[in-house]
Formats: sequence, C-alpha cells, structure tokens
Amino acid sequence: MIKIAISTDEAKIWKGDALLFLLTEETCKDYNDSRIKTLVERGDFKGKAGSVTRVPLFDSPAKNLYLAGLGKNEKQNVNLPGVLTSALRKIGKERNQSVFIILNNDGFSKEESVILGEAAGLCGYSFDKYKKKEDGDGDGDDAFALKEIFVRSFDADVAQKGAAFASGQCIARDLANEPGNVINPPILAEIAEGFARERNITCEVWDEKRLAEEKMGALLAVGQGSETPPRLIHLTYKPKGAPRKKVVFVGKGLTFDSGGLDLKSGEFMKTMKGDKSGACNVLGILDGASALGLGLEIHGILAAAENMPSGHALRPDDIIRARNGKTIEIDNTDAEGRLVLADALCLASELKPDAIIDTATLTGACAVALGSWTAGLFASDDKLAESLLSSSRKRGERLWRLPMDDEKIGESLKSKFADLINSGSRYGGATFAAMFLAEFVEKGIPWAHLDIAGVDFMKDDSGVWARGASAFGVRLCLDYLTDL
Ligand code: BES
Ligand code: MN
Ligand code: ZN
Repeated sequence: MIKIAISTDEAKIWKGDALLFLLTEETCKDYNDSRIKTLVERGDFKGKAGSVTRVPLFDSPAKNLYLAGLGKNEKQNVNLPGVLTSALRKIGKERNQSVFIILNNDGFSKEESVILGEAAGLCGYSFDKYKKKEDGDGDGDDAFALKEIFVRSFDADVAQKGAAFASGQCIARDLANEPGNVINPPILAEIAEGFARERNITCEVWDEKRLAEEKMGALLAVGQGSETPPRLIHLTYKPKGAPRKKVVFVGKGLTFDSGGLDLKSGEFMKTMKGDKSGACNVLGILDGASALGLGLEIHGILAAAENMPSGHALRPDDIIRARNGKTIEIDNTDAEGRLVLADALCLASELKPDAIIDTATLTGACAVALGSWTAGLFASDDKLAESLLSSSRKRGERLWRLPMDDEKIGESLKSKFADLINSGSRYGGATFAAMFLAEFVEKGIPWAHLDIAGVDFMKDDSGVWARGASAFGVRLCLDYLTDL
C-alpha cells in the first residue's frame, strides 16, 4: 500500500526522491518555476496528454523532476486517471521511493482525490508471481519502489474510496491472470469460499449434482466436455443495517475457453484463460463493496465452467434446456458464454433485485466494433444505462451503449427445432448475444450487460491498465454502487 500524505514544503526544498508536476498544454506555458519555464521554452515539454519527461536534478534535495502532460485544459479531468497512473508507474519503476505531486500548482479537489487514491492503488500493479525476483541491476526491470506520495492538499476520505476501488480491481486482475492449469471451476469455487470467509460475505457453491437438481442445464452442458466440472458460486454481502437496495452482479467464469468441438484456432485460443474475467470482476466488486461497508445488499453469481472438446463435449445440433425451461439448439459450441449466463441470469431474476448487471468477455464482435479500449454496454433500462455511463466517465473506463432492440436480430434468435438458437449471423454478433441473454432476465427488472471481450486483456502497461488482465469495469461498477 502506498501512503498518501500532505506536505506544506516548497517544491524546491522538499526532501524526497521525485517531484511530479501535472500540467495542461495551457498551464505549462506560464508556470511559476524557472526550471519548468526553461523546459517549456526549449520545447522539451508541451503538456501533451500522456507525455512524461524526466529531468535528473543535481541542484536540489530531490533526485528527479518529472513533468506529465494533461493535454488541453478542458480535457484534463478525462485524462487525469491515466496520466497520473502512468506517471506514478514510471516514477516507481525508476527507483523513486517518494514523490511530491503538484497538480496545476495546487492540491487535489474532492473528485481528483478519488482518482489520486485509485492511481496510488493501480500504479504498482503487475502480475509477476511466477517470475524470478528482479536483481536490481538498474536495467529498467527493477522492482517497483514507490512507497509514499505527498501532495499540497487532498481529501483523505474520498482518496480511501478510490483506493478501495483500485484494490478490488487488483484482486480481480490477480485471479483473471492465473492460467487454466491453476484455476479451474472447482478451484475458483474454493477461492471464492476463502474470499468470503475473510470478509462479511456468505458463499454457496453448487456442484454438478446440485446443478442438475437445480435445472441448470445450460451451465452443465458447457462444462460437460471438461475433466473439471462446472460450479455455480453465489456470494451475498449484507450491510449492518437495512439495505437501501438489492443489486445482483453476474459474471461469466470460463476458466478456459477452447471453443469446444467448434475449436478455436491457436491465434484466438491464446488469452482465453481470461474468459473468466467477468466472474473475477464480480469478486473484485464484492471486495470493494465490503471494504467500503456499502449500505446495499449485493449478490455475486459466478457461472464457472471450462469449455473443452472431448468425447463428453457438447455438440453442435444438441438441444439443451435452461433453468427457466427454455430450450436452446446449439449452433456453435464456442458461443458458450451466453449459455452459462442464461442459467445465472434466471437465478439472479429469482432474487427480485432492483438491478442486475452482468459482466462478460462475451463476443469477438464487440471487440471488432469498439476496439481494445471501450467496452459495450447493453441495457434494458435507460436510467441504469445513464448511471453506468456517468460512472464510466468518472472512472476512465470507457463504455459505449449498443442497441438491443433490433427486430430482425430478435427474429434470428428463434430456432427451427427449439425455442432459441445460440448463435446466428456474424453480423451484429454482440447485439445477438445481448438479446439472447435478455431471454433469461425477468421483464421489469432493470438489467445491464457489459461486454468486455475487447478490453479484458492488455498487451502492455498503459494508463490505468497494466499488462495482462484489466478487470475492466470493477471501478465503474463500484462507483455506480457508491452513488446508489
Ligand atoms: N470468449 C469468447 C469471446 C472473446 C473473444 C473474448 C475475444 C475475448 C476475446 C466467446 O466465448 C466466443 O468465443 N464468442 C464467439 C461467438 C461466436 C461463435 C458466435 C465469437 O465472438 O467469436
Ligand atoms: Mn467461446
Ligand atoms: Zn467464451
């Protein structure tokens, strides 16, 4: 945990490792500091969004001066989460143990303090437990060193809120980054049980026998080809007093998605250990909610299975029955996420909550539509959609709403031999999947679906994101809950 504290020192005399000035393209121009003036005059720093410049210092107690650009004035709030996190990441990697941050010649406002807490919690994240410890030879691969952040002023309470958002996201990343040989559905269930025991959360796990008794035919079908059977994991967080509202989070938990008999090609199978990200996110959200002691009843339903080809595997043409009695013809065994979510959404609806939010690495089509930095939002309720979009903007996790009312796609959900078919045309694939899910949500319950297929796995560190699993959506969902 990085500490955040206040320093009233002048930057020039502050005794620590690094000074970090966050400046916009406008504010850097007439900044009241001779060193910064010179750098700007020479054109070495222009305040461009995301640029970070280091100047080693020899004439002051601090060792390094960093300048980070926030872009144009009017964009500075949008850019702050990413710029601050990547500047702190760089500072920590360059062996600075302490930093004094000056934001436009000032301290941090209330909303900026949430971001400060988040950035402090996210900047040191890396998934390196399987790597040999770094040797400290200064080749740029050294262990992250940052331990203390100083600012002129900030709101400690809301910074703590931001830190809880970040910590939930890091927990989700740690799980999602584990490979399929380490986490399978029964192991995920054990992890969830341990997770609940450490918090004021209850956890119920349904094994394959119970799943059959509970008519979870779709989840069972997806898991039947694997050596490790599926699990339904139901966690419940209840506040001390009477809850203001009840919200259910549902997560797709494919501990590995090979595609099944409709086997993926190698190129697309790689990173499919991350197909459990939605479920891991739900654990991260519950972690944050319980750490903050939110006055809400929050359920987490994780649908865990491994999608494998074998003599037991689900076949194309098979017809299966979901928990609500609807039959589904299998067109493609690789469209398995919507199947495990179907049963989980039925269960979520039975809890009669005020809202259901599912998060799932559901469709390549969503990734093609929106790219690697924006997740798809589908919602049955405009108010819920607006709240999530507003949280998304505040937290720097980009969401874009996609349609769920396409009548032609709706018609194409119908099978000739069953109530529904699990896949259709390649066109509109993300909408097809969302409209399929809607068949399992009770009408009248506000429901939102986050398709995080494009954003769940990052090639490199960038802004608030670290290489590997992103746990995209954890902070925005927690932000939504705290405002509820
Ligand atoms: N897990 C995949 C979706 C995915 C793709 C996640 C890329 C992350 C990155 C999902 O189960 C899947 O395979 N979807 C298919 C559906 C198709 C067969 C209808 C897809 O999107 O190709
Ligand atoms: Mn698949
Ligand atoms: Zn999948």
